[in-house]
Amino acid sequence: MNRYGVFGNPIEHSLSPIIHTQFAKQAGLNIQYDKILAPIDDFALSTQSFINQGAKGFNITVPFKIEAFNLATELTLNAQTAGAVNTIKIDGDKLIGENTDGIGLVNDLIKNLGINLNNKTILILGAGGATRGILLPILKQSPKRLMIANRTASKATQLAKDFEDHGKTCGFGLDKIKDTPVDVIINATSASLDGQMPTIANGVANDAICYDLMYGTQTPFMDWAKANNAKMVVDGLGMLVEQAATAFEFWTGKQPNTQEVIKNLRG
Ligand code: ATR
Repeated sequence: MNRYGVFGNPIEHSLSPIIHTQFAKQAGLNIQYDKILAPIDDFALSTQSFINQGAKGFNITVPFKIEAFNLATELTLNAQTAGAVNTIKIDGDKLIGENTDGIGLVNDLIKNLGINLNNKTILILGAGGATRGILLPILKQSPKRLMIANRTASKATQLAKDFEDHGKTCGFGLDKIKDTPVDVIINATSASLDGQMPTIANGVANDAICYDLMYGTQTPFMDWAKANNAKMVVDGLGMLVEQAATAFEFWTGKQPNTQEVIKNLRG
C-alpha cells in the first residue's frame, strides 16, 4: 500500500485525507493518506521520518510551504515561480516540489464553474504567499488585465513587477481600487481568518464573479460580495479539491473525477 500524507500545523481540520481517499477509490488504488502535525520548528525532521518509512509523496499546508520549497531537491516551473511548494513527490533520493494551488483555482473556475479567464479583468486582493502561488496559472489564461491590490501598496506593486513578463499586471493599495466593475475578484488576503473584510470600493463587485480562497464558512468577503450585486459568490472548496486532484495525478498519473468529490463534500 502506497503512503501519502499532509503536513501542517494545525492540521486536525484538514479535508485532504477524505479527498485523497475518495480519489484513490475512484482509481482503484489502495493508499494510506495521513494527517501529520509537524512541530513548528521541526518540519524537516518530521518529513524525514515519513520519507524513511517509504512514503511516495506528501502535501504541505500552512505554515510550511516555504520550508517545503527549500526541502525539495527539484522544483517544477510552477513551484519555482510561486516560491512555495504544496506537493512533494518522492522518487528515490529525489524530492520533486510542485505547487498545485494556482492550477487548482484555475481548474475550479474553468471546469466546475464554467468561468473562462481569457480576456477578463481580474482583481486580486492581497499580495502575500497565497497570491504569489496563484499568479502564474492565472496569467497563463491570458486575462486582459490582472490587478493586485493590497493593504500595504508596496507589496502589490512589487508582486506585479515580479510577474510582468507573464502578462499585463499592475499593483496598488486597496484604497486605490476604483468604483468600476471588474469581471472577477479573488480574495487572497488572510483577512477572512480574522473575520474581516478589506475595505474597498463597493461598485467594483457589481456583476462580478467573487471568489474567496477560504472555504468552510461564509466569509465577510462573501457577505460583502452578495450585498454588492456580485454575479456569483464562491468559496474555495472547489479549489481545495482541484489542487488535491492535481497533486494526486502528479503522484499516481491518474486523473480524479473532482465534481463527484466536491458534491460529496458539500453534502
Ligand atoms: P498568505 O500566505 O495567506 O498569503 P501572508 O503572506 O501573511 O499570508 O499574506 C496575508 C495577506 O493578507 C497580505 O496581503 C495582507 O496584507 P498586508 O501585506 O498589508 O499585511 C493581507 N491582509 C491580512 N489581513 C488583512 C486585513 N484585515 N485587511 C486587508 N488585508 C489583509
